[in-house]
Amino acid sequence: MSFLELAKKRYSVRKYLPKKVEEEKLLSILDAGRIAPTGANTQPQRIVVIREKAGFEKLSKCANVYGAPLALIICADHSVSWKRPQDGKDIAEIDASIVTDHMMLQATELDLGTCWICYFNAKVLRTEFNIPDNYEPVNILAIGYAASEPLSPDRHISLRKNLENTVWYETF
Ligand SMILES: Cc1cc2nc3c(=O)[nH]c(=O)nc-3n(C[C@H](O)[C@H](O)[C@H](O)COP(=O)(O)O)c2cc1C
Repeated sequence: MSFLELAKKRYSVRKYLPKKVEEEKLLSILDAGRIAPTGANTQPQRIVVIREKAGFEKLSKCANVYGAPLALIICADHSVSWKRPQDGKDIAEIDASIVTDHMMLQATELDLGTCWICYFNAKVLRTEFNIPDNYEPVNILAIGYAASEPLSPDRHISLRKNLENTVWYETF
């Protein structure tokens, strides 16, 4: 499968089978995140793996993970992330999101469904999972076997904007 075929295959899964994600697959997903590029190679990602009932009970107070049997809380450590000297821009969230994207696409390649989740109560998440002050929870990635029918890889023809709407050459 080419990269574009893989990217077109991925869709947000919001209904999961109760089947557990195999340890080997989890490790491949985490490794895909591990090798992701980060600004100045600071690797500020800090990831909590949730796969036990107690963890999902805590997670349910902060977010809807659609019944996925595996969820990753991807945090960014602001104390190590690269800051742009010109204006101090902190790229921690960009790094955490590149890591998330790598893991999401690796999961897709392993025939797993995923849903990227930013709609969560960060304050409650911090408390429930003992997230240190210098870590920012950036994304939650729900992972598991999809209980829904796969969406067509051709759906982007109508569901995404044309390049003319999002790309300019040389200048705006
Ligand atoms: C940064 C980001 C945040 C998202 N947050 C949520 C979320 O909180 N809940 C949810 O159900 N989907 C969430 N999504 C999934 C998007 O709604 C979805 O990717 C988009 O509608 C395109 O659909 P597709 O993933 O099926 O191609 C998020 C996606 C991204 C990239």
